[in-house]
Amino acid sequence: MAIRILLIDDNPDQAIITRRVLQHGGGYELEHASSGEEGIEKLQKWNPNLVLCDYHLPGISGVEVLKAMRKQGAETPFVIVTSAGSERVAVEAMQEGAYDYLVKDAAYDDLLPRIIQRSLDRFNERNERKRLEAERQQAQQALEKAYTELRVMQEQLIQSAKLESVGRLAAGAAHEVKNPLAVIQMGLEYLAKHLNPDDENTLLIVTSMREAVRRADSVIRGLLDFSAHRLLEPKLQSINPVIEQSIALIKHELSKTRVQLSVELDPSLPSILLDAARLEQVFINLIMNALHAMPSGGNLVVRTRQQTAQQIEVLFPGRFTNGSPVLVVEVDDTGEGIPVNVIPKIFDPFFTTKPTGQGTGLGLSVTRTIVELHQGAIDIRNRPEGGIRASVVFPLPS
Ligand SMILES: Nc1ncnc2c1ncn2[C@@H]1O[C@H](COP(=O)(O)OP(=O)(O)OP(=O)(O)O)[C@@H](O)[C@H]1O
Ligand SMILES: [Mg+2]
Repeated sequence: MAIRILLIDDNPDQAIITRRVLQHGGGYELEHASSGEEGIEKLQKWNPNLVLCDYHLPGISGVEVLKAMRKQGAETPFVIVTSAGSERVAVEAMQEGAYDYLVKDAAYDDLLPRIIQRSLDRFNERNERKRLEAERQQAQQALEKAYTELRVMQEQLIQSAKLESVGRLAAGAAHEVKNPLAVIQMGLEYLAKHLNPDDENTLLIVTSMREAVRRADSVIRGLLDFSAHRLLEPKLQSINPVIEQSIALIKHELSKTRVQLSVELDPSLPSILLDAARLEQVFINLIMNALHAMPSGGNLVVRTRQQTAQQIEVLFPGRFTNGSPVLVVEVDDTGEGIPVNVIPKIFDPFFTTKPTGQGTGLGLSVTRTIVELHQGAIDIRNRPEGGIRASVVFPLPS
């Protein structure tokens, strides 16, 4: 295929010389423009392989033609032609991105084809380098992505190994303690019934013992729930009523606080397979945490909506299939938030920042276990405006 050369030169004699030299060599197709402006126009229309441009032109100079071309994004190799003694111009052109320069002197005829070839070679090399660089960057990005995924997976593995061993331990201990606890509870009921109503001191002691047993029992239940690998009993149903029921169950707690609750449930959500009783526990845990985080009041928002996996990608990199729909439940509070160094620990069993006797630190580990049994995922992070957002995400059939 012929090499297309755009010659920009106002001197007809020079144009004739150039045409003759190139025709002699063969394999070239030449287009001629007599001014810089005409050259720029032809460049767009004709798309040459190389531009050969005189420096001294009637309107804009050769270097300005080059600048205009580069500004338009044309990468075409550019060779500037100068008269003998004005090499300074050549330097300027090279600085602006010319590939080479050529002096109109006795060696012109001889050098022209060689310089054209050299410029084209350099252009091809440059393109090849760019292509390789793009490939390298792509490979690096793929590597970084794979690395991130690997790290996430590793963390999950560590986490599940931790849960597994703690879970087994907890389940064992809980079973051992559950039965004696039931005996104590029954005994206390009996004592309470047969007490002399005038014996206030004993009555007080029995009442506080019953309260202590009730707490111990709820810890044991938490442990058993947390370690329960028992199967879900899922039914195809909407998640909204489950959330409404969870809210109804904590209405009493809520009424004791100065927290404003708003509920934004998307009525068009499709049904999913879910175990209502266990998911209630999830939302109760999250809402109770939010209430505890706002002891002097605040705003609590519980929201459901449908999104795509891309929209929640920042929360769960690589976790859900690209483009697939997901169901999102958000619980937002305006509490004090969680210090960054604490965030990695909040799902750990028994991790709590609450005073002894107020939190077992099992809420979130149980929550995560239940969400994962539903093929879902949970993320908790600070919101820029203060407080935290808990996002629970379930995959929807696409
Ligand atoms: N909404 C929230 N705002 C601030 N910190 C939170 C929030 N939710 C959880 N946390 C932090 O995470 C910790 C662990 O929460 P998790 O629910 O597992 O246990 P807990 O609430 O301390 O005890 P419990 O077992 O009674 O739920 C909390 O102690 C608290 O420090
Ligand atoms: Mg909790």
